[in-house]
Amino acid sequence: MVRQESRPLSEDEIDGARLDSLIDDMLETMRDENGVGLAAPQVQAGLRVIVYEIEPNERYPELEDAVGPRVMINPEIESRSREQTTNWEGCLSLPDLRAPVPRHESIVVEYTDPDGDQRRIEADGFEARVIQHELDHLDGTLFIDRVRDTESISFLREYRRYHAEAPADDDG
Ligand code: NI
Repeated sequence: MVRQESRPLSEDEIDGARLDSLIDDMLETMRDENGVGLAAPQVQAGLRVIVYEIEPNERYPELEDAVGPRVMINPEIESRSREQTTNWEGCLSLPDLRAPVPRHESIVVEYTDPDGDQRRIEADGFEARVIQHELDHLDGTLFIDRVRDTESISFLREYRRYHAEAPADDDG
């Protein structure tokens, strides 16, 4: 499932109870795994839904500003900054790997919220990174596909040994 392209939800589906239970399942899974984000294909649902919630926890003690939980249905990136930054990421679907991944520093995203309302937000920094990581999941793309130098892909054990001061990674 994580390598397949997910399909958009119809308006009827956005009103439906099945979506509510999917969102509950995604939030619960993300929190159980101490992740900051999750995409529906990671819980075996091939639908264009992502969730994220950024708050300080034992793995991200340096994060101070809480964001979310936010649910994005049928999200689309409308614009991307030219500037990119590279930072370490991980993924709940590849639990033992870490790698530096370039992402656009800021993005504008349009999406439908669970009430069926159209929303548009600008995100930057770590939040923009999380959204780009999760949106990639909807197209079957994993963070290792975005790595510029495949030799930089590290096992978690090596990452902890050599990059202990590296900024927070994105486990989603
Ligand atoms: Ni992921």
